Amino acid sequence: MNNKEQLGSRLGFILLSAGCAIGLGNVWKFPYITGQNGGGVFLILYIIMLVLFGIPILTMEFSIGRASQRAPVKMYDDLEPKGSKWHLHGVFCMIGCIILMMYYGVVAGWIIRYFIKFLAGDFVSASTKEITAEFGTMLASPAINVGYMLIVVLIGFSVCAIGIQKGLERITKYMMLALLAIMVILAVNSFFMEGGKEGLKFFLLPDWKRTSEIGFANVLIDALNQAFFTLSIGMGSMAVLGSYMNKERSLFGESITIAALDTFVAVTAGLIMFPACFAYGIDVDSGPNLLFITMPNVFANMGLGRLWGSLFFMFMSFAALSTSFAVYENVLANFIEVTGMKRRMACLVCGIGMFILSIPCALGFNVWSDFKPFGENTGILDLEDFAVSNIILPLGAIIFALFCTLRYGWGWKNFLTEANSGTGLKFPSFLKPYCTFFLPLILIIIFITGLITVF
Ligand code: ALA
Repeated sequence: MNNKEQLGSRLGFILLSAGCAIGLGNVWKFPYITGQNGGGVFLILYIIMLVLFGIPILTMEFSIGRASQRAPVKMYDDLEPKGSKWHLHGVFCMIGCIILMMYYGVVAGWIIRYFIKFLAGDFVSASTKEITAEFGTMLASPAINVGYMLIVVLIGFSVCAIGIQKGLERITKYMMLALLAIMVILAVNSFFMEGGKEGLKFFLLPDWKRTSEIGFANVLIDALNQAFFTLSIGMGSMAVLGSYMNKERSLFGESITIAALDTFVAVTAGLIMFPACFAYGIDVDSGPNLLFITMPNVFANMGLGRLWGSLFFMFMSFAALSTSFAVYENVLANFIEVTGMKRRMACLVCGIGMFILSIPCALGFNVWSDFKPFGENTGILDLEDFAVSNIILPLGAIIFALFCTLRYGWGWKNFLTEANSGTGLKFPSFLKPYCTFFLPLILIIIFITGLITVF
């Protein structure tokens, strides 16, 4: 099998790309980042960032992938002007995917563990205190963290070994549809929760006073980084999916559909979780544990909670796994492109490599918890997430934008021709000045401000 294997259907492509986009970023990270950034204003800025930057960059990344028909390490080779150095970015893409999966696999493991615990009925009528304590117990165990991460790596590379159409496309399609359905049901349940209305207000209504306390620049930077993270753009994983796509559909329309599906899931996650936080007295800014504390409380207080909880964490596992499949596929496609190794053997080698590289994050909450890169309550996960969300993704987005617009790169004409091949919504050509000057400039300013704020 090589990169030129095409996807079977349009729905398959959309759901596979949406599967790559939709994952922990929507249901785990988006709610806690929104909580830490004060709610409503963050939501507005996040949607603006998706429209202004997310969708154009996603279209560019798909276009580069489809035009090159190659994995990120080689995708620039045929498109860049002779003698230029754009291809160096291909290596960063691969590094970005690897670092992402070094912590993504660990958190996906937590989700699978919660699924199993719900199935076993462990959370039936548990109190808020017990639920909070359970999360701490899980983090403190090296065996649980390493073990479940290993399960994610094993499942991920096994599916990749089966191949794209038989494996990825078919499985992801059903997973995504099931997740969308259950989330809507849970959002309706939260809507009628006693004491939940305050949560809806927090999430949906802008409160500028809260924003000014947190700092507008901080909220804006987090919104931009989350927009890139949630769409998985800037590290070539969407380019790989573009390379599996035929020329029947234009890419702008597909990007809008994918961004809309992704936003729908993130906003629905907010509609589920914030009412529950207020109803059960959970701090909205409690950070990465938010999902794992809020949702068990929801289910512990809900009729048939064990069943709903099992279904929720099962489909969440699917969402986390579908992102893992796509990003592992990216690592794999790069590896095969560079080494020429057979797919199955490459799965074995990359699987072992990914397992070893994911161990630091798994041990970061217990054995290596003294390492606090950004101060109290931070750890290896935060460092890896910072490298991906604050550096590799925004920088990658800037490079894609410059490559697609400058004549020293691939150039606007080539980009537009590729993006607009096929039926469907076309990328507006009048956006050339915006894409060439404003978009990269604003991204560069926000990116540098983000680094200055942290250091
Ligand atoms: N886009 C992926 C997610 O949201 C990384 O989980």
